[in-house]
Amino acid sequence: MMSEDEKKSSANTVGREAMEKAAMQDEHMQEVHAQLMREKEEPHEGFSPVPIFLMFFFAALCFWGGVYLVEHSGGYRWDAYSPDFDPNAGAPKPVEISLFDRGAKVYRNQCAQCHQADGNGVPGVYPPLAGSDWVVGHPQVMARILINGLNGPIVVKGNTYNGNMPAFGSSGLALSEKDIAAVITYVRQEWGNAASEVTEPMIGDYSALYAGRSTPWQAAELKEGLGPIPEAVVQPVAEEATPAAEAATAN
Ligand code: HEC
Repeated sequence: MMSEDEKKSSANTVGREAMEKAAMQDEHMQEVHAQLMREKEEPHEGFSPVPIFLMFFFAALCFWGGVYLVEHSGGYRWDAYSPDFDPNAGAPKPVEISLFDRGAKVYRNQCAQCHQADGNGVPGVYPPLAGSDWVVGHPQVMARILINGLNGPIVVKGNTYNGNMPAFGSSGLALSEKDIAAVITYVRQEWGNAASEVTEPMIGDYSALYAGRSTPWQAAELKEGLGPIPEAVVQPVAEEATPAAEAATAN
């Protein structure tokens, strides 16, 4: 039977043998490592330059990034990614001026030198347009004058004139149909004149009607064979007169 001491010493002997074995293995390992270390390149100080092509590459990348951002940013608008985003919404829209305002400009440029800015003309030379029966009557009368011109004696507001009114239609000074409609509308509604508006399609129809005519109109024929007043034309005078007329008959 083994004593306690004997047991201990035998255990110690086993432990020492194992440790010596391990030490031997360590030595072997170190040898191998040393060998490897010798074969490895030595680390050294300093740094190697970045390859030049990389610098160009990154510069190009930054440039492309900038271009991409600007082109796809939707103008840096906060609502650029909203489904109903309209990139042109903020752009100013071309303003459509009224026929009357357009006519005012045409009048200043084309008519005022003869008929004057106030529409009163020049006594004995250029007849007045303000308060003229030729102007505020049937719209076709003024259309005829502007499309083909006018000459020979004409009585305007009790005075006789005898001059030459140039044609502004395609055979004359060639104003556009829209400008002719605009200036007629202006003259019929300025300086206290209160007649209906004359539209571009109306002038289109009249121009077609008188395309074959090469001579200016004479005052005597201006009111001959007038067509019906086109649909669009509503006489404002008639509209106002109706209730008053009714009141008069009721009394
Ligand atoms: C070169 C001068 C001249 C210009 C420019 C001119 N007119 Fe006249 N206009 C006349 C003369 C002169 C008469 C009278 C013609 C006649 O005696 O037969 C006349 C007559 C008229 C009449 C009929 C008479 C009346 O007074 O109501 C109208 C309407 C008229 N012009 C409108 C215009 C309009 C609108 C313009 C511009 C688009 C214009 N004219 C440009 C010289 C001109």
